Amino acid sequence: MDNITIAIAKGRLGEKGLELFKGTDMEIVREKNSRKLVFKDISGKTTFIFVKPSDVVTYVEKGVADLGIVGKDVILEENKDVYEIMDLDYGKCRFAIAGFKDRLSDKKNDVLRIASKYPQYVQSVFENRDQRIEIIKLNGSVELAPLIGLSDVIVDIVETGNTLRDNGLEILEDLDHISARLIVNKVSYRFKYGIIQEIERILGGE
Ligand code: PRP
Repeated sequence: MDNITIAIAKGRLGEKGLELFKGTDMEIVREKNSRKLVFKDISGKTTFIFVKPSDVVTYVEKGVADLGIVGKDVILEENKDVYEIMDLDYGKCRFAIAGFKDRLSDKKNDVLRIASKYPQYVQSVFENRDQRIEIIKLNGSVELAPLIGLSDVIVDIVETGNTLRDNGLEILEDLDHISARLIVNKVSYRFKYGIIQEIERILGGE
């Protein structure tokens, strides 16, 4: 088997991805609470690197990682030159435009101020719409923006809907479905096709 490097998004999504390798020779053994960022699997042939979710696509595009496990939200925002080859079918949620009722139609002929952690994605969503927009980039607690008048609406991830509900906001429009995805470097896909297929089989539960 070829040597291969897999970039894993730090956090819940990545941890769940690692679980899928348990019981195979691609399993990794870690000491509890370890802050190490690079691990070899038990076969010694696969290297796992742990990086920030938004950096997974960069590592894979540049080819320092052959594969990556990351959320579709990050893939849509980063818009990098990689292949997305598998829907891992967990970490499911969706992008949505949210805010107070009727805010979208109220602002139809005005500039719509949109707060989001995903500015490039917002740009792409509104690209072909007849709506003037101003994007306000935030790094978290996005639901606060309409409450205090920083924005008219938000574009964000909705999972249970609790954060919206607890803040008196609602979904105004559903956008893309999100889940964990397997991405691959374009050159690796050609030259390491055998092992990549093997990994697809493992992640698919075969
Ligand atoms: C995410 C997202 C929403 C919330 C949605 O935030 O940005 O705020 O989860 O989940 P829900 O529909 O189940 O309530 P996250 O927890 O990552 O925190 P953040 O606001 O600091 O980004």
